[in-house]
Amino acid sequence: MSVIEIAVPLFQGGMAVRVSMAPLVSAVSRAGGLGILGGSGLDREELRKEIRKVKSEVGKLPFAVNIMAALSRFSELVRVCVEEKVPAIVVGAGFSREVFEVKKIGIKVFPIVSSLKAALLSEKLGADAIILESGRAGGHLGTLKPLQEIAAEVISKTRVPVVVAGGVETPDEARSYIERGAHGVQIGTRFSLSEESGWPANIKEFLINVKKSDVVVIESPAGLPARAVMNPFLEKVLNGVKPEPRIVMKCIQCLRKCSKRFCLLDSLICAQKGDLENGLFFSGDQLSGIKAISRTKDIIDEYSKVLKRDLIISETVTSRG
Ligand SMILES: Cc1cc2nc3c(=O)[nH]c(=O)nc-3n(C[C@H](O)[C@H](O)[C@H](O)COP(=O)(O)O)c2cc1C
Repeated sequence: MSVIEIAVPLFQGGMAVRVSMAPLVSAVSRAGGLGILGGSGLDREELRKEIRKVKSEVGKLPFAVNIMAALSRFSELVRVCVEEKVPAIVVGAGFSREVFEVKKIGIKVFPIVSSLKAALLSEKLGADAIILESGRAGGHLGTLKPLQEIAAEVISKTRVPVVVAGGVETPDEARSYIERGAHGVQIGTRFSLSEESGWPANIKEFLINVKKSDVVVIESPAGLPARAVMNPFLEKVLNGVKPEPRIVMKCIQCLRKCSKRFCLLDSLICAQKGDLENGLFFSGDQLSGIKAISRTKDIIDEYSKVLKRDLIISETVTSRG
């Protein structure tokens, strides 16, 4: 039995708010990878609508929905995934034990972890695969360590398939992780600069010209470090000034725990609406190396040429490498 059948062992990381929506997710799944919807920051009905759009575009091909465990509405959004019978749920930004309940109805669970401890706990609770994310990823981070430091131990000491994420910049690098026992690779930032991503054109243009030193780690109001791009909004935050929300005028307590340093939801919505001044732009460390906006299919094709092993993530790991 396989965990999830995809032609290319490449996951497109879920990206909120509204960066990985139906157009990107379906383009990835149709090209042979695993498209992952960024469900965080959507309400129930928007998530449902987006899932249905993906389904209508991918037919029987697999896809997944990413939801941040740090959200107050986590269970509510998981329930929509259950009602819509999505093939898989990816849990990012925190850990959830309750999500494993969805396995009873055949939904796969892929937690994002950053340590051996969390990987082993996920395995014990029944994770179908784990996504091991390093400190070079975009968005919320569970560690600041690079992938090279954490991958070998987690791959050798767990028996669930491991998909590595965070700073994998090239197909050759992806292949080297697969040769060392990873079952797949997840990339995010590169897909955020695809034609099909939800960033508007002015944001893609801005991001494509960012210098390496402009990608920084900040403390997110969710209580985790997060990697993002320097801009007037972040300058304020780093200077201890609390930016006024622009769109979410009344706090909806979107996070289980919030430091109130700034409104995360407002800043991510501003970003997706093209507001260069007031938006928060999550991005991985590799952003400055991305020189062009590509078609999603071309990104997947680049990887599929090199990741020749036709990957079916197997249920139990019997051998590594
Ligand atoms: C714009 C953006 C938004 C993201 N949003 C989420 C999210 O909502 N949930 C999550 O678990 N990870 C999120 N991530 C992390 C990605 O899913 C992915 O794991 C990570 O970017 C992989 O590293 P890479 O960017 O170096 O390829 C986000 C990343 C970016 C760049």
